[in-house]
Amino acid sequence: MSLKKLVVELTNICNLQCDYCFKEAGTSHLDIGLLQRLLEEARSWGASKVTYTGGEIALYPQLEEVFQRTAALGYRYAVVTNGWHFDRLLPLLSRTRSALKHVFFSLDSASEPQHDSVRGKGSYRRIMGGATSCVEHNLPFSFLVVVNQRNYQEMQSLAELVSRLGGKGVTFGHMLPTSNTLDQQLSLTDQQRRSAEAESRRLNGLLDIIVSFSASATNEGSVCCEPLAGRTVSVDCRGRVSLCCQLADYRGSTNRKDIVADLNVVTFGTAYAGFLSLALQQRMRRNNALLSGDPMAKHPCDFCVSTMGKTEWRGKLDPAYTTAGA
Ligand SMILES: C[S@@+](CC[C@H](N)C(=O)[O-])C[C@H]1O[C@@H](n2cnc3c(N)ncnc32)[C@H](O)[C@@H]1O
Ligand code: SF4
Ligand code: SF4
Repeated sequence: MSLKKLVVELTNICNLQCDYCFKEAGTSHLDIGLLQRLLEEARSWGASKVTYTGGEIALYPQLEEVFQRTAALGYRYAVVTNGWHFDRLLPLLSRTRSALKHVFFSLDSASEPQHDSVRGKGSYRRIMGGATSCVEHNLPFSFLVVVNQRNYQEMQSLAELVSRLGGKGVTFGHMLPTSNTLDQQLSLTDQQRRSAEAESRRLNGLLDIIVSFSASATNEGSVCCEPLAGRTVSVDCRGRVSLCCQLADYRGSTNRKDIVADLNVVTFGTAYAGFLSLALQQRMRRNNALLSGDPMAKHPCDFCVSTMGKTEWRGKLDPAYTTAGA
């Protein structure tokens, strides 16, 4: 087990309000001095890649400095963006092109009205414009798609769109629920999840792009994802190390079981030791749950969200419903 990658949340500020978003929106930017120290220390532990995410990274005020420092330390980096401000990102990415590994745009549908109904009017066109700019400037890009009841039947159209646009691939992932209402309306059933994962495998062989499903039910139980394998460490915009970027600042949850250390007060080495210990515990917990036939354990991320106490709302009425009924 060795460290390969950091996932760094530069900011929790975002310009969009996607209904299913699992990030609690906030007003914090990561301190650039802390980032510099993190990059230096993690490099000596073996990290050579970093993915920048948010919130929306385009809103981070010192982004050019971030990319320059990342490149100077010998990292290769990727970015995850909603694409709205890609015109701001493009020159910064181009200036550190040799260190740039990948641009990930988050897309919800191959249909403009459907995508815009989730991410806001004009969003689809901005992503398409961003993809075109990537091709023009020779920047490798892919799409990230959160699979749910709205779009699981259009996985092939999404893959074909990426291929047509000249992208490298599409990574699908299951939606993690943040309320009873969204869970009931948008989560796939167990059978639908398995079909979606099978569809992803079929599409991967069909087109000239890479189609994958992150943390799928069919992944090996013991090491189902990069964080649990101890290879990817996530840091949130307040400088705290979390078991996973998907768990940090989970919307509607005050539970912080996923946080292993605060880099404002400890070194990366100390934090990494705590991270490895929690990753091991979580793997053992899931293995035991799989052996005992716990249905939740089949889906790795749902298992994490549930066991890390992020779904306190389960079994309670959503506030909107409580108010409506009062
Ligand atoms: C939190 S966003 C931050 C980056 C940027 N704002 C964006 O949307 O690409 C990172 C990724 O998480 C995904 N995401 C958001 N909410 C999710 C949820 N409830 N379940 C699974 N993925 C989710 C987004 O679609 C995006 O691909
Ligand atoms: S998914 Fe990304 S763009 Fe949408 S609200 Fe969340 S952070 Fe913002
Ligand atoms: S939520 Fe858990 S299973 Fe999913 S990617 Fe993160 S650490 Fe892995």
